[in-house]
Amino acid sequence: MGEKEEKEASSQASGAQSFPMEIAMLRWLLFSFCFLIVQAQDETSFLSLDCGLPANSSGYNDLDTNIKYISDSEYIKTGESKSVAPEFLTYERSQWTLRSFPQEIRNCYNISAIKDTKYLIRASFLYGNYDGLNKTPKFDLYLGNTRWTRVDDSYYTEMIHTPSTNKLQICLINIGQGTPFISSLEFRELPYLSYFTLYSLYLYSRYDMGSITNEQYRYPDDIYDRAWEAYNDDNYATLSTSDSVDAYGSNSFQPAPIVMKTAATPKKGSKYLNFTWYSANDNDNFYAYMHFAELEKLQSNQFRGFNITHNGEHWDGPIIPRYLSTTTSYDIFSTIQTASTHQFSLFPIENSTLPPIMNALEIYVEMQISELESYNGDVDAISNVRSTYGVIKNWEGDPCVPRAYPWSGLSCSTDLVPRIISLNLSSSGLKGEISLYIFSLPMLQTLDLSNNSLTGEVPKFLSQLLYLKNLKLENNNLSGSLPPDLIKKKMNGSLTLSVDGNPNLCTLEPCTKMTPEQKKSNNNFIIPVVAAVGGLLAFLIIAAFIYWITKSNKKRQGKDNTFPVDPVRSLEKKRQQFTNAEVVLMTNNFERILGKGGFGMVYYGVLDDTQVAVKMISPSAVQGYHQFQAEVTILMRVHHRNLTNLVGYMNDEGHLGLIYEYMAKGNLAEHLSEKSSNILSWEVRLRIAIDAAQGLEYLHHGCKPPIVHRDVKTTNILLTENFNAKLSDFGLSKTYPTDDKSYMSTVIVGTPGYLDPEYYTSNRLTEKSDVYGFGVSLMEIISCRPVILDTPDRETNYIVKWVHAMVSQGDIKNIVDPRIRGAYESNSVWKAVELALACVSVDSNQRPTMNQVVIELKDCLTMELSQRSESRPMESKDSIEMMSISMVMNASHSSPMPR
Ligand SMILES: *[C@@H]1O[C@H](CO)[C@@H](O)[C@H](O)[C@H]1NC(C)=O
Ligand SMILES: *[C@@H]1O[C@H](CO)[C@@H](O)[C@H](O)[C@H]1NC(C)=O
Ligand SMILES: *[C@@H]1O[C@H](CO)[C@@H](O)[C@H](O)[C@H]1NC(C)=O
Ligand SMILES: *[C@@H]1O[C@H](CO)[C@@H](O)[C@H](O)[C@H]1NC(C)=O
Ligand SMILES: *[C@@H]1O[C@H](CO)[C@@H](O)[C@H](O)[C@H]1NC(C)=O
Ligand SMILES: *[C@@H]1O[C@H](CO)[C@@H](O)[C@H](O)[C@H]1NC(C)=O
Ligand SMILES: *[C@@H]1O[C@H](CO)[C@@H](O)[C@H](O)[C@H]1NC(C)=O
Ligand SMILES: *[C@@H]1O[C@H](CO)[C@@H](O)[C@H](O)[C@H]1NC(C)=O
Repeated sequence: MGEKEEKEASSQASGAQSFPMEIAMLRWLLFSFCFLIVQAQDETSFLSLDCGLPANSSGYNDLDTNIKYISDSEYIKTGESKSVAPEFLTYERSQWTLRSFPQEIRNCYNISAIKDTKYLIRASFLYGNYDGLNKTPKFDLYLGNTRWTRVDDSYYTEMIHTPSTNKLQICLINIGQGTPFISSLEFRELPYLSYFTLYSLYLYSRYDMGSITNEQYRYPDDIYDRAWEAYNDDNYATLSTSDSVDAYGSNSFQPAPIVMKTAATPKKGSKYLNFTWYSANDNDNFYAYMHFAELEKLQSNQFRGFNITHNGEHWDGPIIPRYLSTTTSYDIFSTIQTASTHQFSLFPIENSTLPPIMNALEIYVEMQISELESYNGDVDAISNVRSTYGVIKNWEGDPCVPRAYPWSGLSCSTDLVPRIISLNLSSSGLKGEISLYIFSLPMLQTLDLSNNSLTGEVPKFLSQLLYLKNLKLENNNLSGSLPPDLIKKKMNGSLTLSVDGNPNLCTLEPCTKMTPEQKKSNNNFIIPVVAAVGGLLAFLIIAAFIYWITKSNKKRQGKDNTFPVDPVRSLEKKRQQFTNAEVVLMTNNFERILGKGGFGMVYYGVLDDTQVAVKMISPSAVQGYHQFQAEVTILMRVHHRNLTNLVGYMNDEGHLGLIYEYMAKGNLAEHLSEKSSNILSWEVRLRIAIDAAQGLEYLHHGCKPPIVHRDVKTTNILLTENFNAKLSDFGLSKTYPTDDKSYMSTVIVGTPGYLDPEYYTSNRLTEKSDVYGFGVSLMEIISCRPVILDTPDRETNYIVKWVHAMVSQGDIKNIVDPRIRGAYESNSVWKAVELALACVSVDSNQRPTMNQVVIELKDCLTMELSQRSESRPMESKDSIEMMSISMVMNASHSSPMPR
């Protein structure tokens, strides 16, 4: 043990990447991939909008940060440029101008973003008496469909948010308490796994504790341009160093080194470092991140270690800060559970000679941002209406979002996907004919085009809008005669129609005041009616068809894609957390080993009559319990029938463990191996592949933020008694020891052979990396060939190259596992081979999404089953002995858990 500690010290001093096992574990828990994700971050990936800067300005670089600011005019069309009063020119330059919105209730920025990328979004508001009224207005700020905050005296607000589409919509809403305005809008990319939470995070406070300069720090001190506010308190003393903190790299949070150089500590005579915050809202969940680094070179008789309590209960510790190196404690605190006061105390443990310290503190409130989007067809139609008549009012961004504040003149349905149901363009100065695009708003109930200068005929399509109940066309210059169907609808009371004030419009039936042209067209009267009725029929049929398709789609996906939100998490948490004693009982004192995982042994257990697999995590250094708990809290909220269920966990005095449901039939790799006595039929293989693909699809598309599995392989596909497949080992950050001596030489992710080749250049694992791993697994499922053969032939020893070679030789039959003996529908297998090849495309953009993979695999299964029902002449005798899903097998397995 002593030897290992020495190793730690030396490795830190040299910055070498060689850590003893315990430290490796600690890092796993603590840093969540920091080595893998840390990327050179520079301000070129920042988007910084100086609102109100003239459109013709080419922008500027800020003197302090050297960040480039540009005008916001590209991102919004409404609002007016204003400047703050001269006495406010001492503020940062980006605050000198602002955009104010005296017109309309809603004004929106439309920002293009990169989907599934984590952003720090900061909006700043310096009123600066720009309008001479000396009265700071109050207004609402929306992100997507969710109210972000009410802006009043606050100077800036921040959100950490991962959009699930390629756009971000930020709206300012006038609430009748002054004119909304904005000074700057900034977007910073954050690493995917820092601040890893299910929902978005609203910044509550971010403090540089014990600051000695009283300055705010941002970029370039903080590589992500987080703003750290100086915090001092009469109850605190400060500690600081002139040495550099985190000179050899930091944890995944990478707080600004200059912030970490100072710390708050209790005043002489006190041993407590206390702080408290209050929650205004009963349902708030807070995330607190506390950053620690030892700033004093301790003598041999000195020691600093402390515990942290939350509302009087032990929360974390003992925490022993490391010399000039950041460690972070974090957790979620639910207000339901703990009342509205959050009181923290840091105090020394028994053998500590020094008081506690805290270098930096971040507190966020969890926020669920709804990224609602209107129905696409409606958006296209209304955008076309907008361009037909010129930009009308503040029509920017999504027409129906935020729901409470749609485009002026519109109202939308409350459907899951909002539809436009009413359009009111009265007195809007419209010229020309009634736009045909209005016909592409099929859900319209109300259409008001009154008091404009519209000309031409009243189009017949208006009578084909099935839901139209109220049509106002008065006070225009429309001509011709009214479509008979409209008149019919009006007569039978299904439509309120007003057309007064159109001097050239004939409103009688039969029309007496006909112009010669109208007379001519009257001869053809029957044809337009037939056309109209025919059109109506066609429309009805298409509408019915679309309805049917979406409905059956919904049915197919419905259950799988709903994400469970757990309102009583705190109650459940108790039940799912187990003590060491309970785990000893559960596993009958760790009697039966199921396998060996990357972090320790996996044991068989029984919990309330259900079988479980208990994955122990080697006892690690003292920190990290809460990081572990926070990650587990996230995993506990992920449920899908194709993902192994996390039943509970243990976090008891240094003993960490994860308790999973028991998977009776072990992992897929065992069943594919040559040694396996049972040969899986092609149908069973396809079903397993579909199950695994659906599990992955859910992680990618059903979770928010999406979860990248990072290690898709056949040993991580586990099988139940009935050969239903479930993915395991997802969502946990990990680093692997590379050899049995328990030292980490280099940090590797994933598993050789399954690892996305793009990882070597990008250092980043994405959903498409999982698709690659899945493609390799699918090749294994088809061929049963080892992923990497121990032969020197570099062209064929890797399964991907081998399949490529076989396909290019046209030798497809020999790809398939010979043990299946031709008992398969060949189109089904070929399609699967093609799919596998697409999944392992070198360019990740060419790989399909898991949604597509699932669809393709289901097609393969359909092909296979349709052949089956026709009877298969070539079916060999052996294939009858092949397993079918309903067969029950002997359940003895040595290692159902993956490595
Ligand atoms: C930008 O336009 C304004 C007038 O709209 C003009 O006064 C100013 O000189 C222009 N600036 C540049 C850099 O072209
Ligand atoms: C800090 O909190 C502890 C309880 O956790 C309390 O006993 C102590 O008096 C507090 N100290 C100060 C200075 O508020
Ligand atoms: C600090 O926490 C540890 C672990 O819970 C506990 O064993 C120890 O007694 C605590 N020390 C103090 C002074 O509360
Ligand atoms: C103090 O106790 C902690 C555990 O509570 C231990 O990790 C640490 O090594 C001890 N320090 C000294 C100097 O004994
Ligand atoms: C938002 O901006 C993107 C391009 O940045 C554009 O394609 C899209 O049409 C805009 N959306 C709206 C509703 O204006
Ligand atoms: C359309 O809006 C105008 C005011 O802009 C209002 O007077 C009129 O009643 C509205 N029409 C309908 C059908 O609601
Ligand atoms: C008709 O529109 C004009 C401006 O386009 C407006 O001045 C007038 O008040 C409107 N009349 C009615 C009845 O809404
Ligand atoms: C209405 O349209 C006719 C042509 O169809 C035109 O002669 C007349 O001037 C228009 N009236 C108004 C008020 O715009």
